[in-house]
Amino acid sequence: MKIEFTLNGQPTVIEVAGHRRVLDLLREDLQLTGTKEGCGKGECGACTILLDDQPVNACLLLACQLEGHAVVTIEGLAQPQAGQIDPVQQAFLDAGAVQCGFCIPGMVMAAKGLLHENPHPDREQIRIAMAGNLCRCTGYSKIIDAVELAAKSDKRK
Ligand code: FES
Ligand code: FES
Repeated sequence: MKIEFTLNGQPTVIEVAGHRRVLDLLREDLQLTGTKEGCGKGECGACTILLDDQPVNACLLLACQLEGHAVVTIEGLAQPQAGQIDPVQQAFLDAGAVQCGFCIPGMVMAAKGLLHENPHPDREQIRIAMAGNLCRCTGYSKIIDAVELAAKSDKRK
């Protein structure tokens, strides 16, 4: 079937099979490999993307469900041509929250979703919002620090 949606600000039209997952559409069909596959069953958050500004797991979503919606992936945040990194990504770097990096795209997208919904979350609210995103490296405190840092500046939304 043919679907039409907005991907990282660009109108997109693509043919997909009815059972194709958004994760496979992004990684395999569109070569947007920043969105990671961890568990493949909605438990790790590595595949988090924004759907109409809400964080969702791309492994649990069918491509046909994107029809008419706006998707943002990690590739849609930075503007390399302008030499700009997204302020939330910068906060992760500044807080030293990145180790192996595998979970970080999903973490950043979850943080973007939280800050869109609640621009000034407290630490507990951050912890709750990020609870669906697993990290095997950092012990989480630096990730919470990073989101807190991002929330401290209006420029980081
Ligand atoms: Fe989607 Fe783990 S790969 S939640
Ligand atoms: Fe390695 Fe989170 S930084 S899994």
